[in-house]
Amino acid sequence: MKKGTYYVTTPIYYVNDLPHIGHTFTTVLADILARYKKLFGYDVFFLTGTDEHGQKVEKSARERGMTPKALADDVVNNYYELWTTLNIDYSKFIRTTDPEHEKTVVQLFQKIQENGDIYKSYYEGWYCWGCEAFIPGTQVREQKCPECGKKLEWLKEESYFFRLSKYEKPLLDFYRKNPDFIRPESRYNEVVRFVESGLKDLSISRTSIRWGIPVPGDPEHVIYVWMDALTNYISALGWGHDGKLFDRYWPADVHLVGKDIIRFHCVYWPAFLMSARIECPKQVFGHGWWLRAESKMSKTVGNIVRPNELLSLASPDMVRYYLAREAPMTDDTSFTIERFIQRLNTDLANDLGNLLHRLTGMIHRFHDGKMPDPGPVESRFGQFRRELLDWSKGMDSRVDRLEIPQVVGGCLEWIRKLNGLLGEYEPWRMVKQHDTRAEGLALIGFVLEGVRLVTALLWPVMPRSMETFRTRLHIHPEPDERDLKWGLLKPGTPIEKGEALFPRIDIDIEANESMENGRSHKKSVYYSNQGRGRVEEKRIDIQKFMDIELRVVRIVSAEHIPGAKKLLKLMITDGNETRQIVAGVAQYYQPTELVNKKIAVVWNLKPARIRGVESNGMLLAADVHGRPYILFVPDEVPEGSRIR
Ligand code: MSP
Repeated sequence: MKKGTYYVTTPIYYVNDLPHIGHTFTTVLADILARYKKLFGYDVFFLTGTDEHGQKVEKSARERGMTPKALADDVVNNYYELWTTLNIDYSKFIRTTDPEHEKTVVQLFQKIQENGDIYKSYYEGWYCWGCEAFIPGTQVREQKCPECGKKLEWLKEESYFFRLSKYEKPLLDFYRKNPDFIRPESRYNEVVRFVESGLKDLSISRTSIRWGIPVPGDPEHVIYVWMDALTNYISALGWGHDGKLFDRYWPADVHLVGKDIIRFHCVYWPAFLMSARIECPKQVFGHGWWLRAESKMSKTVGNIVRPNELLSLASPDMVRYYLAREAPMTDDTSFTIERFIQRLNTDLANDLGNLLHRLTGMIHRFHDGKMPDPGPVESRFGQFRRELLDWSKGMDSRVDRLEIPQVVGGCLEWIRKLNGLLGEYEPWRMVKQHDTRAEGLALIGFVLEGVRLVTALLWPVMPRSMETFRTRLHIHPEPDERDLKWGLLKPGTPIEKGEALFPRIDIDIEANESMENGRSHKKSVYYSNQGRGRVEEKRIDIQKFMDIELRVVRIVSAEHIPGAKKLLKLMITDGNETRQIVAGVAQYYQPTELVNKKIAVVWNLKPARIRGVESNGMLLAADVHGRPYILFVPDEVPEGSRIR
């Protein structure tokens, strides 16, 4: 029996840019919520997608010499691939160019029109092309957008209007009756103040752009991109067509959005729905922003954090964990690479990873690889078990309140407590003495059962790793309600050991920084190895590439550098000249296996000193989650050959 339904949505992302950490965060968070609710026994629908109409997309496409649809088709692949990599288990991916969606937008427009809430007039005002919104005169300073800082333009055009002013009072009544509609509380107050300050009718059509859904009966106008986009939340469920999903899942339990788009979701959207006599969603949660080193990320500044950078350092599950643990739910959070590495190494490689390794190791050493019976210590540690179970029972409501960093932090706290039991009682000593052996084994079993419970609750955050771990315990890989009780692991069940689930991120930022000095930007400790898709973040022309002299060289000798465990000193030759380079590959290659191998190097780099040793060139290697794979060249290629 399902407990009820749960419908969660992300914003639909504009296709004029590639996904960055902000988009990734919202989507990972929604996936985590969906998985928690599924684990707790709910019937879940999780929607995400792309916002493909409007001026931003039209402009980007023009700049690239493509049609807007071709651009959308191209960029959407980056989203599909990223969500697959990150194991995002959405129920539906909607694109606003889907014909069903387009039909629904027209239907909603007509419904609102029939109800007398749309009229035609002229609009004049300050318009922000960046935000695709008219900005109220009271908020305009120095002709700049208060949201994005871009220069505003004075626009006058014929337009259809929605009678938003009529909904001022109904909206305020609705907020008062449903204080949970806008979360967190600070955003509730912000929205209420905005509506109380007075609502003007809203322009909902444009004649200045072509890329959009035409207004029914007046194709000179296209429907305002935000009206089009917001409708996705009901068109995805077949509202107005085959309404089975709509009847089952609407109203949405939570629209997850960034704080930047709270007004659209908390003012315009419920007003449209009220006008069309459709129930309003239960909640809009406006989370904070990821900043980079305290400032807003922007393409112009070039400080955007892309998910592929993170994925070149850590596994998808580890990236998910980081985003969930450090999530800017209320306030903004700064991203730094140091903190990313430190958090993952401490929580996952050390605490969780070591405990899993330690436990399965002991079970193999002392109990033939079989689950011991925790029975003999269950009453002794009864209090511990009760507290763990009580805490796990509070999970559902914590998830409803979107306390995700606390939920994840809580799981790690329990991992540390379970680890603490081992440290305190030292079962590895107990098992060696006849009179304490049974108890020592029971304690190992008890801790493993505790870990089994906690890791079931970490499954929504790190599904792949937790499924792998659970397979090693010979239990159903995807946890469900059975996992929320004590005693699922049966004594005698074979327990397998396996590879470490969370490898340490072992990157010497200092060494890498000095390698980068004078060559490119400072923080390129990672290179994006997964920049897929045809739309690149930054294209270079062929001349820029030709400026880089790539050559085939032979390694003459290789040796370790005392005091630098990650570095090797290589002497290389192109047949004419022998040079010295330093490479950060010592942990993965023995000097002897490199001698006489042919490799590719950047030959015309300015010399740099790395840990005091001169490096006069750089070898090429593929970066796989921080592990370098040197690009060897077949032996028949002559030394000195140019690579193009
Ligand atoms: N297309 C609109 C949304 C329409 S929803 C009916 C849009 N798209 S967007 O591509 O600009 O994505 C906006 C969303 O991405 C934000 O609301 C937020 O969820 C996420 N983020 C974008 N930048 C962000 C940060 N720096 N930090 C956290 N999330 C932010 O607006």
